[in-house]
Amino acid sequence: AFGLAGPATAQNFPTKPLTLIVPFAAGGPSDVIARLLGDHMGRTLGQQVVVENVAGAGGTAGAKRLAAADPDGYTLLIHHLALAAAPSLYENLGYDTKTAFAPVGLVNTGPMVMAGKAALAPADGKAFFTYAKANADKLTVAHAGVGSNSHLCAVLLSQALSAKFAQVAYRGTGPAMNDLVAGQVDILCDQSTTAVPQIESKKIKAFAVTSPDRLDVLKDTPTTAELAVKLDMTIWHGLYAPKGTPAAALDKLNGALRAALADKTVIERFQAVGTKPFPQAEWTREAHGARFAAEVDKWAATLKAAGVALQAAK
Ligand code: MLT
Repeated sequence: AFGLAGPATAQNFPTKPLTLIVPFAAGGPSDVIARLLGDHMGRTLGQQVVVENVAGAGGTAGAKRLAAADPDGYTLLIHHLALAAAPSLYENLGYDTKTAFAPVGLVNTGPMVMAGKAALAPADGKAFFTYAKANADKLTVAHAGVGSNSHLCAVLLSQALSAKFAQVAYRGTGPAMNDLVAGQVDILCDQSTTAVPQIESKKIKAFAVTSPDRLDVLKDTPTTAELAVKLDMTIWHGLYAPKGTPAAALDKLNGALRAALADKTVIERFQAVGTKPFPQAEWTREAHGARFAAEVDKWAATLKAAGVALQAAK
C-alpha cells in the first residue's frame, strides 16, 4: 500500500490478490485441486487467489517461474512429486530444487489410475496388463511431460512389464484425458482426481489403481498389487512460496491451507474423486519440508533404477 511499504507482517498480509501458479494445463488434476484450495484459502485470507496455469516441461516451467518470483508471499505454486523428481530428470533447471522453495504445507494424497480408451480391447485389469505387454509396440501412452505423475507412472508401467510404449506428451493430463476420451491415444495413467469422473461416466476404462488399497469410489477396480504388477505409486501435492518469503506470511498461508483441509466440503470433494488431505500431523511447514527432501532422494534412486536418462530443461 502507498506509503506503508515494509516487510509483510502477520497483521497486514495479504493486502492484495495472490497468484497461485499451476504448472500444468487447466482442467487437469493439479488445476482442479488448486482451484478448490485457492477458492477456500482466498475466503480465509480475505483476498482473491488467482490461478495462473504456467504449463510446460513436465511442470518445471511453473517451478522456474516461482523460483524467480518476489519472495513476498503473493506468488505461490502448487506442485506435486514431479518437483522432487525433476533434478533427476532435467539438467539446468534454472533453480536449485533443494533451496529455491519455501514449503507452505502438504495438500492432498491419493493414487493413480491406469486407464484406457473406451474402445481398448481388454475388459478388466488382469487382461489389460497381459494385453499391454503383448501389444506394447502398437500402443500409445499419453502423459503430461517428462517428470509428471502420468509420465512417471508410464515409466513404472514399462519397467513392470519390461515393455516399451510410444509416448505422447501433453502440457497436462487435462488435454491428455480429452484425447483419451476421444480415442486419440490408448493409455493414460492419471491421478484419481480427474480419472474417476471419466470412469464413472464410462468415457474411459479403468484397469487398476496404483495404491495398496482399492478406492471406495472405484470399488470394482483392482489394485496393481492384487494383479501382481509391480507398480506402486502414491501422489501428493504441496504448496510452495519462493525461498526468503517472511515466516509471518508463510505461517498465515499455512493457516489458510489448514482451514481448507479441515473444511467438510473440501474433504467431501476430495473423497468423491478418490483423494484426501494429508493427516493433520503432517500439516506443518516442517513436515512438508521433510517429506519434500525425502522425495527428492527417493525419486533419484527410483529413476536411476529405471534407467531414465537426464535431459535438457526447456
Ligand atoms: C496435471 O495437472 O496435468 C497433472 O498433475 C499432470 C501429471 O503430473 O500427470
